[in-house]
Amino acid sequence: MFRLELLGGLTLTVDGRHVSPPPRQSAVLALLAAAGDRGTARDKVIACLWPESATDNGRHALEQLLYSLRRQLPALVASGADPLRLDPTAISTDLADFRACVASGDVAGAAALYHGPFLDGFFLSGAPEFERWVDHERLRLSGDYERALRMLAQRAEASGRHTEEIDLKRRLALADPLAERAATDLVRALAAAGDWAGATRAAREYMARAREELPGAAVHDLERLVERLREERRFESGGGGAEDDGTGLIRYEVQRELGRGTAAIVYVAHDRRYDRVVALKLLRPEVATATDARRFRREIRILARLYHPHILQLYDSGVMPPGAALQGMFYVMPYVRGETLRQRLRRDGRLPIADAARIACEVAGALAYAHAQGVVHRDIRPENILFESDHALVGDFGIAGVLENAGGERLSASGIVLSAPSYCSPEQAGGKCNLDGRSDIYSLGCVLYEMLAGEPPFTGATGAAVLARHLSDSVPPLRTLRPELPHELERVVLRTLAKRPEERFGTAAELAQALRLERE
Ligand SMILES: Nc1ncnc2c1ncn2[C@@H]1O[C@H](COP(=O)(O)OP(=O)(O)O)[C@@H](O)[C@H]1O
Ligand SMILES: [Mg+2]
Repeated sequence: MFRLELLGGLTLTVDGRHVSPPPRQSAVLALLAAAGDRGTARDKVIACLWPESATDNGRHALEQLLYSLRRQLPALVASGADPLRLDPTAISTDLADFRACVASGDVAGAAALYHGPFLDGFFLSGAPEFERWVDHERLRLSGDYERALRMLAQRAEASGRHTEEIDLKRRLALADPLAERAATDLVRALAAAGDWAGATRAAREYMARAREELPGAAVHDLERLVERLREERRFESGGGGAEDDGTGLIRYEVQRELGRGTAAIVYVAHDRRYDRVVALKLLRPEVATATDARRFRREIRILARLYHPHILQLYDSGVMPPGAALQGMFYVMPYVRGETLRQRLRRDGRLPIADAARIACEVAGALAYAHAQGVVHRDIRPENILFESDHALVGDFGIAGVLENAGGERLSASGIVLSAPSYCSPEQAGGKCNLDGRSDIYSLGCVLYEMLAGEPPFTGATGAAVLARHLSDSVPPLRTLRPELPHELERVVLRTLAKRPEERFGTAAELAQALRLERE
């Protein structure tokens, strides 16, 4: 008699001895085991395992497979039949036993039979249809298993068998490691049993996992529960916690909004520890996608590497603690009281030539430094340049990339990113992935042009139209708009705006130098 186990992996034994059929034969056995007495139509097996083949080829492949299966494992599959069925007198399966338990309400039996997810770790290459089917079955079976555990846990709880209840709730939390409800139930049961350390550990483990796997997702219920437990505990132990162990006051008190993008909001906040005003950029958990969260983390790690008088500095970063008014991942930087270059342009239209050259020179210095650290900003535009005491500060490294050939740790693959169309270099507009510092030089050229002319070099009705103009139009003559502009400065601007990167300044440091000469 053969025994096929599918819950928690795939093993086939005959009289206690292991047999290992090749993957595709195993897949057929799994399909037939799942179909039970009803059996599976041959066409369905073919569609699942050989979705690409023409019908005849698929049939032929199945025939061959069944032939070799029967040679090694006689009497498992009735020959010639359609639908195909496993012979129940020759083979038994844990799947059939599990289903029988579920059907008869034997929840303890079902829980005992479930040794892990359906076909855990089994993989069949080149059969996406089969993979989809496995996912579907896996979900259904784990749902049955979790229902059984929940019922058992309820019974244990009702009759005061707490050790058993906790054990079952632990299994539930393990069955779906990302389910907040299961984690919350376990934490609550542990706390109720007086196991504080265990409850905190379980909560911390879940939150770490959720932050890792579901970045940006809020874990409100659990955080609230942990906070309440902490309060209770503090009350019980009769003392307040120290400030730094997470039980103290929340360090940053958010006051008002300063600006927002799609995934993040920047606030003015009060830093209680140092009693100072700071800016706090918070990823909005309710809208942030996994990519946003990854980028945000990368933005923080990039900022953490940079230290330059014209780059907005990173003070701190973290995740808002439970109980804070706002939740989510954040980082903290100096609060810049001045305006952004965008606000200044909106107010003044265009800038005095000397101011424009000085600002561009400061930004070029910041870029030269960032590039030397292997970081390309990729989003240089007036919104991301701020003024503190009249000096420029570059911020928002939100879509910054790390140079391919830069040494040291790679932060992540660059991928294609688009900045605002008006400041997008031709290579960025053309979808190139590995942008280098010269792309930032071009964007800064657009910003400098706008500071001098009152509008960026290329405008248009749609973003696509503007991008097309970056790729093909020549730069509208600057001195027509600003006749008093020195020829040499116009040449500098034109050189930053060359379509081909190799015709621009080789480095931002060279550009800064040219602008410095201009100002002398
Ligand atoms: N440190 C700061 N001090 C003052 N205002 C800031 C600061 N950082 C950002 N801002 C304001 O918030 C806006 C959005 O910030 P930014 O980092 O560019 O976020 P996003 O990635 O959403 O564009 C900026 O354009 C600016 O107006
Ligand atoms: Mg921005």
